[in-house]
Parts: sequence; C-alpha cells; structure tokens
Amino acid sequence: MEHTLRAGIIGCGKIAINHADTLRDFPGASLVAVCDSDVDRAKEFAREYGTERVFSDAERMLAECGLDVVHICTPHPSHEGLVLAAARAGVHALCEKPLAVDVAAADRMIAAAEDAGIKLGTVFQRRYWPAARRIRAAIDDGTLGTPILGDCTVLITKDRAYFEEDEWRGRWSTDGGGVLMNQAIHYLDLLQWYLGTAVRVSGRIATLRHAGYIEVEDTAVATVEFEGGALATIRASTAAVPSLGYRVSVTGDAGGTVSLIESPIGGPGVADVWAVAGAEEYHMPWGAEIESHPPQPEVHRSLKPYHALQVRDFLDAVVEDRRPEIDGIEGRKSLALVQAVYESSRTGRTVTL
Ligand SMILES: NC(=O)c1ccc[n+]([C@@H]2O[C@H](COP(=O)([O-])OP(=O)(O)OC[C@H]3O[C@@H](n4cnc5c(N)ncnc54)[C@H](O)[C@@H]3O)[C@@H](O)[C@H]2O)c1
Repeated sequence: MEHTLRAGIIGCGKIAINHADTLRDFPGASLVAVCDSDVDRAKEFAREYGTERVFSDAERMLAECGLDVVHICTPHPSHEGLVLAAARAGVHALCEKPLAVDVAAADRMIAAAEDAGIKLGTVFQRRYWPAARRIRAAIDDGTLGTPILGDCTVLITKDRAYFEEDEWRGRWSTDGGGVLMNQAIHYLDLLQWYLGTAVRVSGRIATLRHAGYIEVEDTAVATVEFEGGALATIRASTAAVPSLGYRVSVTGDAGGTVSLIESPIGGPGVADVWAVAGAEEYHMPWGAEIESHPPQPEVHRSLKPYHALQVRDFLDAVVEDRRPEIDGIEGRKSLALVQAVYESSRTGRTVTL
C-alpha cells in the first residue's frame, strides 16, 4: 500500500504558503497539522488548507500527530530548537533558510539529525532555477573549466515598512543578521555551489541607510578565497533604490564567464551573460517597464514553483531513504560564509574557515 506522508508546518506566516500549496498539490503527502505561537494565525491557516490539527506549541504537535515530515518556517534563531525537537520526535525536518544563525548551532542540528536518523533539508529553492542548474552543469561538463573567479552582487530595496512589518526583523537577537543573513544568503549559496568550499574571508558590514530602526547590517562587502585558489567578491545592500536585483557570476579557467540575474526580484533567474567562446548568448531580461521591487506576496508567488521542486526532492528523499539534494551540510556552507564576514568585520582580520 502506498504511504501518504503526514506533514506539519511550524510557523504559519508568509513563506509557509509556498510549503502548504506544494503539499496540497503533491499526491504523496498531506498537511495534517500546523503550528504557530500565534494560535489565531495557525487557526486561520488551518481553515485555509483544511488541516485537521492546530497547535501553538511545536513540541506537542511533534509528539501527538504521528508526523513523517515537518516544515520549519519560523524566524531564524528558532530554527535550531525546532530542528532539535523534530529530531527527538523522529520527524524529518525541512528548514527554511538560513539553517541557523551560527555555525555551532548548525553543527548541533546536523549532528542531532544524523543521530536520530532523520533527513534534514535547508531551503535554497533558487538552485532549482533552470538558469542556476545550467551554470552548475557548465562547471560539471567542463564547459567553463575550473571556476577561478566569482561575484555575488545584491542591490535591492527594503524600506522601513518592511523592517517594521514583523517584530523579529532587523535585530541581531531575532533576525541573526541583515542583508547577508536574510537576503544575500541565497546567492552566497549559489556562489559556493559553483566555486566550492570557502577557506578565507575578509569583509566589512555597516548600517548606512536604515540606521535608527534596524541594528543589523544593510550593506556589506567581502572578498573570499576558495579551496583550490578561486577568488570572489561580494557586494550586498538593502539600501539600493530602485532595486537592481541579485546577480551571481562565474569565470572559469577555460576562459568563459557566465552569470545569472534575478530582476525583478522573485525571478525566475535568467542567464544574462553566457560568454563562452562559440556559444555566446546575452539577454537583458529587465526594462524600464518592469516593476523592479514587486510587493512581497508577488515575490513569494513567483518563487513557489521552485519551492515546489525542492519540497518534492525532500519528500522523495524521505520515501527513497536518500539524502535530500540540499541537506544540513549544504545549508551550513553559506551560513559559514556569512558568519565569517561578520567576524572579519568585527575583528578587522581575515577569517580562516
Ligand atoms: N526561501 C525563501 O525564498 C524565503 C522567503 C521568505 C522567507 N523565508 C524564510 O522563511 C522563514 C519565515 O519567514 P516569513 O517571512 O514567513 O516570516 P513571518 O514572520 O511571516 O512568519 C513566521 C511565523 O512564525 C511564527 N513563529 C515564530 N516563532 C515560532 C515558534 N517558536 N513556534 C511556532 N511559530 C513561531 C510567527 O508567529 C509567524 O507567524 C525565515 O527563515 C525566512 O528567512 C524564505
């Protein structure tokens, strides 16, 4: 008899919709329980999705509902405790990015998942864009040769209303960081997916435009050296108006340079530069008519098909008893990069990972 996976969601806010919609469309799983510390939010969410059980306490949901899988869609510092609780309950956990707010927490989460024999996934759905996979394939099949140079540029708009919409945003204790931890991390994930393991990081962060109502950085720069010698630069800011979007580029030792741009925000990412000898393609995906900073719900809606691909990979990994494509170890890598920039900025030194 085919088993339908019993899924739960913790955190019934904005991104939880992408997870719940995917579960609704996925024949092998069903959303049976939801939890939010704000129980009215959980109730409303449960009504919308026809979910049987509603909780304000995640431990109780994990203990009482016989779940196979839990989707963790809460603010960053809570991810660790919730993954550890899922591990204790023997429930596979798919956790929204960033995996945690520091590497020590990520290590505890990875170890707990290993010990409990549960799958742990970190959501980086931008890896599922065809354009993102095309760059990975050009590295794997030798088209680019070995990557030697990369760049990650994030020039986006966040206004005061964004930071004030949710109480947790913009503070070290509840957000864990600013533009690097929250927005650029998707692109740092792609950068390290293409260039490999970061070994030395030097950077500076600052709060230059949103000072007064946020503590965390709104602007950051860094240089990174990867195992094998490749170098990369990072520039990120939530202070750019209008928003130019996100871009990552890779140059290989075969000479080619390829890059991916997300503009308008929400994507889908497009390979704007494909400077590979004999196969050149250039696309300018945006124009003056494009709303470069669409409202957040619209951004989340456009991200949904790629959330769906990653959620499906995770559920398949549970059924097939294999590692999910983006597991805890993968999720830890971009977090290590972010933490290294913070440490370098604090100490004025290059950080060796
Ligand atoms: N993958 C993406 O592209 C993407 C996009 C947006 C947000 N996110 C991530 O998703 C997560 C949630 O972001 P959001 O924008 O949906 O936030 P949100 O504020 O809209 O929702 C978070 C919800 O979690 C609830 N909550 C907080 N602590 C809880 C706890 N301990 N137990 C149960 N519920 C709790 C809050 O009441 C709130 O309803 C963050 O990690 C964020 O970075 C990812």
